[in-house]
Amino acid sequence: MAHRGNFGSKLGVVLAAAGSAVGLGNVWRFPTEVGNNGGAAFILIYLACVFFIGIPVMVSEFVIGRSTHANTITVFRKLAPHTWWRIGGIEGVFVAFFIFCYYIIVSGWTLHYTVASFANQLSADKDYKAYFQHFVSSPWEPVVYAVVFMLMVHIIIVRGVQNGIEKFSKLMMPMLLLIIGVLVVCSFSMSGFTEGVTFLLRPDFSKVTPSIVLSAVGQAFYSLSLAMGCLCTYASYFGPNTNLMKTAMSVSLIDTCVAVLCGFIIFPAVFSVPGVEANEGPGLVFITLPHVFNIAFHNVPIIGYLFSGLFYVLLLLSALTSAMSLHEPVTAYIHEEWHLSRKLAAWLVTVGCILLGVACSLSMGVWNGYQIGGMCLFDLFDFVSAKIILPLGGIIICLFVGWKLDRQLVYDEVTNNGTLRIRFFRLYLFLVRWVAPLAIAVIFYNELFNK
Ligand code: PHE
Repeated sequence: MAHRGNFGSKLGVVLAAAGSAVGLGNVWRFPTEVGNNGGAAFILIYLACVFFIGIPVMVSEFVIGRSTHANTITVFRKLAPHTWWRIGGIEGVFVAFFIFCYYIIVSGWTLHYTVASFANQLSADKDYKAYFQHFVSSPWEPVVYAVVFMLMVHIIIVRGVQNGIEKFSKLMMPMLLLIIGVLVVCSFSMSGFTEGVTFLLRPDFSKVTPSIVLSAVGQAFYSLSLAMGCLCTYASYFGPNTNLMKTAMSVSLIDTCVAVLCGFIIFPAVFSVPGVEANEGPGLVFITLPHVFNIAFHNVPIIGYLFSGLFYVLLLLSALTSAMSLHEPVTAYIHEEWHLSRKLAAWLVTVGCILLGVACSLSMGVWNGYQIGGMCLFDLFDFVSAKIILPLGGIIICLFVGWKLDRQLVYDEVTNNGTLRIRFFRLYLFLVRWVAPLAIAVIFYNELFNK
């Protein structure tokens, strides 16, 4: 078998995995979901999902990946030869690929907004809805940005695990955390700070419905990068001393803190401007915020300029570290299973993704007439992957680790062959065997059949 890379340090492991988790889902999707679903009520449900479902599933992915040190498809095949369990691995690699296809399009938008922001094009008070719609429906502009973004990811992936993924995560994650800190401090001075934070922290339980709980589970899976082969692939590069439980907790903590802090940046800004609603939907960061930044910093445009520029750099960095982790499972699979060089494997993924990504992008413009189930290709990819395949993948992972894998193997992985004292092992096993799969199944059923 080809020589495999591995992570060189514990910090590298945590930052790379956190880099995968912290992404557009935190900065863009989380505040939108919070805005639509009752503010803090959603956050509380989300926290419960992270604790009772997200962390156990993440540890399970780590167990699967590190026990066999191979790409996600091979890992399932080796652990359970000649059985249907291999669907778990196939699901992971496929879903990573499909999510990647539309992820690069949205990432391309963030690249465009970063450039536009520094070029001072977002500083006038114009109609940002028309600006956004014009941009995303243009046949070639979003594609060019997506391709440039993809090439940046490609260059990192080709450099390998330690020299590419680990090195860039160590560079980009501290920058990202620093930018968040600066932006949160800036948002203290906004006139809508108290109102924004109150909105974020005061729960409105009247909005809670089963479908909101499903959204919270979907958001937890998406935000923690679960069931997509990403963390499983990263775990296959972990060394024998990595503490899986601790790593999963650190990654979840960083991811959740970043999501909530992004709420602290976005809602004060939104509430500083009269007439702007907190539940603007996905257009929030691309339509509402440029407008809000302009008005909120009307008196000191230079701060508005810097605030908006930094905000989009934050978005871009978070997208880049996540995109690396979506590229890697597919590249590793092709490299190891098809016996191609890593470079060629990476090129295949890059080109394939760009082609499907272009179709997704065009589906928001010139191809908008072609719809399936009332959704354009872009929305369809998001719906099928985040709301259907991810929960199913989550159930497979839980059942696999909870019931199929040898309990001793799971124990050895979680405790590093008995050298770590893990107090929560029984609780973990209980959550993985019963709570997580049942919760996912009930919510999933409810969403699909009880509407
Ligand atoms: N977790 C990322 C986010 O929050 C999205 C992602 C999913 C990245 C799966 C990698 C793998 O945006």
